[in-house]
Amino acid sequence: MLVRLTFLFVRVRLFGTMAVSTRGRVIDLRSDTLSKPTESMRKAMYKAEVGDDVLGEDPTVNALEQKSAAMLGKESGLFVPSSTMANLIAMMAHCPERGSEIIAGDKSHVYRYEQGGASQVGGIMMCIIPNKPDGTFDLQQMERMVRPDDIHQPVTSLVCIENTHNICGGKVLPLEWLEELHERTSRLGLPVHVDGARIFNAAVALGVPPARLVERSASMSFCISKGLGAPVGAVLVGSTPFIARSRRLRKVLGGGMRQAGVIAAAGLVALDEMVGRLADDHRRATAIGRAINDFKSKNYSVDVANLHTNIIFVKINPKVVESQVLADRLATVIEAEVKELGEDAVEVKTYALSNDSIRLVTYYEISDEDVNAAVKKLHYVFKECDKRE
Ligand SMILES: *Cc1c(COP(=O)(O)O)cnc(C)c1O
Ligand SMILES: *[C@@H]1O[C@H](CO)[C@@H](O)[C@H](O)[C@H]1NC(C)=O
Ligand SMILES: *[C@@H]1O[C@H](CO)[C@@H](O)[C@H](O)[C@H]1NC(C)=O
Repeated sequence: MLVRLTFLFVRVRLFGTMAVSTRGRVIDLRSDTLSKPTESMRKAMYKAEVGDDVLGEDPTVNALEQKSAAMLGKESGLFVPSSTMANLIAMMAHCPERGSEIIAGDKSHVYRYEQGGASQVGGIMMCIIPNKPDGTFDLQQMERMVRPDDIHQPVTSLVCIENTHNICGGKVLPLEWLEELHERTSRLGLPVHVDGARIFNAAVALGVPPARLVERSASMSFCISKGLGAPVGAVLVGSTPFIARSRRLRKVLGGGMRQAGVIAAAGLVALDEMVGRLADDHRRATAIGRAINDFKSKNYSVDVANLHTNIIFVKINPKVVESQVLADRLATVIEAEVKELGEDAVEVKTYALSNDSIRLVTYYEISDEDVNAAVKKLHYVFKECDKRE
């Protein structure tokens, strides 16, 4: 990993001055989607027994679907190429009638980052209510948004929640809130779909079985390709009739895959070997958050008390450094830095989320050693931006 292409000198503009850049080891903290399949996943993929899954004949896909359903306390499962497709299928399966409406949070992935698929492809309207910083929303407001029986209005057919909540910073939805949500939605006769792309992070953080988090939800989807490390895919779980409808929808969306057991095999390894260890990612995320605060500059801070899982939001003072400039600088190594940090002069890749924040995410390939090097780099760059001596 420690390939240093020192012959690759480039002049970079750094805060108005010119510096000579070089290369360093890359620590990529942009997302847990960057995790690559483990050795045991690759072995399982090589050996996977396969068949035509569109005909329901791939034993490895069937095993992944059954195992997922069992772990989440649901009757059936469906393997799909991505969580985006899983969410779209779920929303369409819950809203078969034209003129349906879904209630979701304004910071939810289904609303922000899926091209409005529910509306674009599914013909479903979305009613958006503000997410609170903890990933929840106001339940009284939710109730007020449920449409009355009135021919002028669409029919409220589903409520979507997200656990952990990505854009709220990997937040685990509080169990009490889930209880109250389900009290209200069951009284209203509304099903709940959980976008649980990172549901196992939530379960591990709370120390409860994942099924406990979706007990009263009609459906849930999770990614096997984020913190769980598998290369591709997501699983949607729910009742057997719901999954039968979903299987038809998967086909029309082009998500019917043939010998998909090759990738499902990695998903089975993910469920067996990668769930328990998510706690290490959470511990490392907290360590990075604490270390950022230990730098003791108000210009960079992490709300560590509310850092629940593997996603770290660093709030930055945009008057000192804009987030994109900071992200670019963290991903660059300069000669002067190599003199001071040596092997810890690393390229840290982060994601500029808004102009006053950057996001860092841990996953299984990010080791304690990487955390230490990344923290040294962050401190070095913070000092440079603050022009502290
Ligand atoms: C990543 C993510 C998705 C989409 O997953 P893909 O497999 O990349 O389509 C959906 N919801 C949430 C909360 C996510 O973080
Ligand atoms: C940050 O972005 C907001 C809206 O996108 C804008 O109003 C604000 O001026 C920006 N701040 C800085 C310091 O660039
Ligand atoms: C924040 O950055 C400013 C501008 O460089 C600097 O003067 C100040 O000392 C920094 N704040 C802290 C608390 O370090």
